[in-house]
Amino acid sequence: MRFRDFAAYHEAVRHPDGLRGPGLDWSDRPEVFKRYPGAFGVPLAGALPQPLPLDAVLAGRCAAAPPAALGDLAGILLCAHGLTRRESGPGWEHWYRTVASAGALYPAELYVAAAGLPGLAAGLYHLDPAGPALARLRSGDRRPDLARAAGLAPGGLGFAITGIFHRSAWKYGPRAFRYVLLDAGHLLESLGQSLAARGLAPRVSLRFDQAALDGLLGLDPGREACLAVVRADGPGPAGESGAGEGDLPEDVLRQASRTARNDGPWEEILSVCRATEAGRAPQAGIVPADLAAASGPWSGLGDAPLPAGALDYPAAVLRRRSRRDFTAAPLEPERLAALLSLLRPADPAEPLPLAALLATHRAGNLADGLHLLDLAQGATALVRTGDFSAALARACLGQGWMARANLLLALATDFPALEREWGQAGYRAAHLAAGRLGQRLYVAATALGLGCCGIGAFFDHPARELLGLPSGGRLLYVLAAGRVKG
Ligand SMILES: Cc1cc2nc3c(=O)[nH]c(=O)nc-3n(C[C@H](O)[C@H](O)[C@H](O)COP(=O)(O)O)c2cc1C
Repeated sequence: MRFRDFAAYHEAVRHPDGLRGPGLDWSDRPEVFKRYPGAFGVPLAGALPQPLPLDAVLAGRCAAAPPAALGDLAGILLCAHGLTRRESGPGWEHWYRTVASAGALYPAELYVAAAGLPGLAAGLYHLDPAGPALARLRSGDRRPDLARAAGLAPGGLGFAITGIFHRSAWKYGPRAFRYVLLDAGHLLESLGQSLAARGLAPRVSLRFDQAALDGLLGLDPGREACLAVVRADGPGPAGESGAGEGDLPEDVLRQASRTARNDGPWEEILSVCRATEAGRAPQAGIVPADLAAASGPWSGLGDAPLPAGALDYPAAVLRRRSRRDFTAAPLEPERLAALLSLLRPADPAEPLPLAALLATHRAGNLADGLHLLDLAQGATALVRTGDFSAALARACLGQGWMARANLLLALATDFPALEREWGQAGYRAAHLAAGRLGQRLYVAATALGLGCCGIGAFFDHPARELLGLPSGGRLLYVLAAGRVKG
């Protein structure tokens, strides 16, 4: 089945009665680390950034310390997408990472184009978190190619984030495009935080020449696609430029997008990925109040300081894990205010392709019920009182542990407004933004000693009705946060 627009795709992959995958084939489980046989490898041993207050990092207020050598870039990459914890048993091992990932399938990959950085020859590299190492895909200064294809200024450091569809589709079937985008959003935010900790303001491009970028990165376009490009200040224009001698052969590059023997093609995903390539610059964001039929007056959260004892960056991201052992103990008003303050976007003027609702359960001074959360203004408005947490947990495929979380953050969008402002690319933008907020909430909750867990599995229409979203409103992602055991 092929799709020409995101609304049709989204409807077709709804839970519980939408398109399903073929079921899990454990004998052909996708490989979670991308490999390039024969590539020149650069081991990464880097200094992690000095401990920094998390609020300064998230607000983009850190002093500039651009990378001066390979070790600095290594530090950026290891905070963004490093391995953090190993679990193993007879015949298996699994590594967790700084980012959360639906089903721990890690479909998102990170590439970097660098030049003029002592210790690293100019080139286009792929990050292998397992090394950790950089694999050189192409030599020479490729930043101009990346910048041109993404409409960004040349120079500095260039990054690209891609998604390998089969990694997630193996478990989630055609619905996996949604998970891949959310996962890529987590990685995008993690990279943004890691750059911000060096005082570097990440410039993100979601509207780019897809074919040019997929080609530059050597992706197999039937399996993997570029989803975001990021530029950060760094070493200026380099002497060397152009190309060629150290490039890996095209067939080696493309073959690396394969992750299992039987890995597609996923026509549903490839078609919606193509349909959502083109977009435009939005003039306005999704208005939170438009997503709720009625709400009380807005009440500002104020600027809550980070409490003493909060974890710094990067400790918070290195210790981030999904927690489901919520206790339902009351969340103190100060910690609630600090948590919600940390969710505020660094640039409140940037139009957001989604809006947030909060189902609360013994959360500070907020009445138990459903609230709108204006992320940019840092304000809430009561929509309805009642026990929404238990009902939302039921709508999330009966994941009962959610009902004990103090907060369920529901990230939703409005399809007609999204299409009008962003065009078809709005679908990617909204999911990426939801993933970004998700990673932010995880890191903020960890810093404050709270638990957090993302939830991508929900019955789409029952959840929409429960939240009172208008007919074009759609829930994209839910996150639970609150007090946990221990
Ligand atoms: C997009 C997304 C959706 C997720 N959905 C669920 C979910 O429905 N239920 C759940 O228990 N965990 C969910 N998770 C959490 C993952 O299972 C978890 O991130 C993964 O196992 C890696 O573990 P870690 O977060 O502790 O590193 C989700 C995570 C992401 C990023």
